[in-house]
Amino acid sequence: MKSGYLLVKKSPPLQGTVTVNGAKNAALVIMASQILTSGTSTLENIPNSADVRQMITLLQDLGALVDFDSQKKRLIVDTTTINNYQVRPELMNKMRASILVTGPLLARFGQAKVAQPGGCIIGQRLINYHLAGLKKMGIQIKQEESFIHAQRIENNLYDKQSRITLEYPSVGATENLMMYAVLGSGKTVIINPALEPEVLDLIDVLKKMGAHIDVGCSSITIIGVNKLDPVTHTIIPDRLEAGALLLASAITGGQVTVDNVRADHLDLFLEKLREVGHEVATASNLFDETQSSQTTSITLKATHTPRPISIKTGPYPSFPTDLQAPMSALLASIDGISSIEETVFENRMVHTKELEKMGAQIELKHNTALIRGVEQLYGCEVIATDIRTSCALALAGLAALGQTKIIGIHHWLRGYDGLEQKLQMLGADIKLFYEVEKEEVLTLKKTSRKLSNLLSNE
Ligand code: EPU
Repeated sequence: MKSGYLLVKKSPPLQGTVTVNGAKNAALVIMASQILTSGTSTLENIPNSADVRQMITLLQDLGALVDFDSQKKRLIVDTTTINNYQVRPELMNKMRASILVTGPLLARFGQAKVAQPGGCIIGQRLINYHLAGLKKMGIQIKQEESFIHAQRIENNLYDKQSRITLEYPSVGATENLMMYAVLGSGKTVIINPALEPEVLDLIDVLKKMGAHIDVGCSSITIIGVNKLDPVTHTIIPDRLEAGALLLASAITGGQVTVDNVRADHLDLFLEKLREVGHEVATASNLFDETQSSQTTSITLKATHTPRPISIKTGPYPSFPTDLQAPMSALLASIDGISSIEETVFENRMVHTKELEKMGAQIELKHNTALIRGVEQLYGCEVIATDIRTSCALALAGLAALGQTKIIGIHHWLRGYDGLEQKLQMLGADIKLFYEVEKEEVLTLKKTSRKLSNLLSNE
């Protein structure tokens, strides 16, 4: 865990253009999906975040050779040498995405030994949908000490057909079940799947590998194939980093353009910013409401008379839960009463207590926050307890009088790749202080040693 902090001061209206990184949550699952192939794949637009580096360590632990060029954001992974289906618990408990190797390991080895995943503490974060779906596909699940041992039962009915209805469109469960279903002889239909842009990016990669996947409005059909091939793929832009930058523009009363972004992945979020009164335009038609489906830049020009709004999070295309906390930082200083209802995670309102320390007036009723906008927020010491809370507090700090010191900074580093530098480029007064720990240096050294082996073998 990293000690350190972010120091944020009241900043002038942000101005300028910045480019958005690749999406962390798409990168992580697509890295896990490489276990399904044997050979060398190239993934472009991979953000250099702590979770990504953690996934590199996990893949290396399974036997893969990985070369990550953090400047070019290019990851080359050779999966030929993967020879292990067991993930060490200490690797599992550092991030939620570690559970996403279960499906690919099962498809490759017929078994996987994993532990309960870690990650942001924003709710119970069960994996029962993952396990129930796998059971329906003929997988036996046993608890063995700290491990969950998942194993294919030979000659099971799954070879013929499997139909899984998800109780909730879980992103992780949809991804895991799909990654197990793509290899083999069966047909799998997942009803009520998650269709987040990150899930669709995974589907894109799997199809490039040779998978047979058909996406409907409320189902995904997968016909298993015997072999999947390595790929070259560019990760989709990070809608959550783009959202953070647009909110930074709004909260400081600035004008910021974010490049390399998919406006169609942010539809409802952009609508809500417009409802507040901000001018939001896409590259194709500046300051016009019409959007094409695949624009490359979004500009937010802040209004001086913002209005309160209501938000309810939900599975895509509803308002993204990952932008809920950052959005509440903006609403905290808009005159009137705004409301935010969180429906995805049961414990994702922790940031409201920290915002209150800064002077925000928030009444929490179960998972609904009623935010009465105040004229001024005030800097103080606050604690980031998850990735998106760290973002919310940094945004609030840009508008707060004085200085905001944010501790718990490992969450910021897990989720973002140089976001503080982008904010600085736009004129924000934000600085990151932290020491790289010995463990991290060792991981980087190990990575580069494996890389040079990989490159010299080419
Ligand atoms: N759930 C269960 N059982 C399961 C799976 C999920 O009850 O087996 C519940 C969860 O507890 C939660 C809801 O279903 O209440 C949604 O969970 P989901 O499985 O959709 O989320 P996830 O796969 O754990 C991913 C992202 C999250 C993002 C959510 C929702 C990754 C690595 N994580 O989590 O990202 O909030 O989807 O879009 O892809 C973040 O980046 O800060 C982050 C938390």
